[in-house]
Amino acid sequence: MPSFQISPDDKIVHAELEETILQASLKAGIAHAHACGGFAKCSTCRVIVETGSELLSKPGEAEKKLANKVKFPNDVRLACQTRVEGEGKLILKRPVIDDIDLELTNIMGKNSLELQKMGEPKKLAIMFVDIEGYTPFAEALPSYDIMHVLNRYFYLMGKVINKKRGNIIDYYGDGLLAIFGLYESTPEEAALLAVEAGIDMNKELQKLNPYLEKMYCKSFKIRIGINYGNVITGTIGIEGMQKFSVIGDPVNMASRIETSNKLFGTHFLISENVKALLPDTIKIGKSCETVLKGKKGNHTLYEVLIPDTNV
Ligand code: FES
Repeated sequence: MPSFQISPDDKIVHAELEETILQASLKAGIAHAHACGGFAKCSTCRVIVETGSELLSKPGEAEKKLANKVKFPNDVRLACQTRVEGEGKLILKRPVIDDIDLELTNIMGKNSLELQKMGEPKKLAIMFVDIEGYTPFAEALPSYDIMHVLNRYFYLMGKVINKKRGNIIDYYGDGLLAIFGLYESTPEEAALLAVEAGIDMNKELQKLNPYLEKMYCKSFKIRIGINYGNVITGTIGIEGMQKFSVIGDPVNMASRIETSNKLFGTHFLISENVKALLPDTIKIGKSCETVLKGKKGNHTLYEVLIPDTNV
């Protein structure tokens, strides 16, 4: 029976003649990514053929189209479209390597926040984050790949935010909204946890970027804005489609602070409220005087410097 060796799993996988590499790989218990379900509509199942390309079926039209779009090198094949047709030495490598995929599968759809029916006043640190240059990145890729990358990105950022006792409460395209201080925090703790999360998210990005470089010849930079203030938390939406939400002026202002990064060429801005709550250990760069849309008067925003990264 034809077989192939696949790394980094270090397994020999037997493939029936009618099976694709992806089917054989999954049957062998390998966490082989396949975001579109095996329909040549993403590129996440790709394998690099290190030895034995002559043993594989030729690419069909669907694979050629996708390979052309994503600009695959000659040694890359879609596992879901490729069969092993002959016996011999065949060595494949999966560039989408993935404990993260497994973990993602387990957590998708779970929401750790309890829905609150009634609005409740709270003081919170509010963080908005988006990805710089996301639109051209997304335009160049199949939708399934974008979904795959965003899920990975949100997962990694969410882990950092959770570690700092924060909660992601909304996603909008490539952006996210997170809050800090929902559970038992002083204002100083909430502000510090939010800023530390922002710093750590940038560090986490340095680990994600080599993956994006390898897969898509791209890397991400994020823009962060944080504010602190009085908000109302609660549940909005109709029965069966409800979600936890925060409403109030400080939320709108946090969003505007995040977008101000574009104006000032920065990546991490905080409000005066937040700065006043932080210890000296947080390094502040430039301060920027600005008018925020929908807000009266001038506001000073402060740039948080991120140690040990190129951001
Ligand atoms: S699983 Fe999407 S192209 Fe193979």
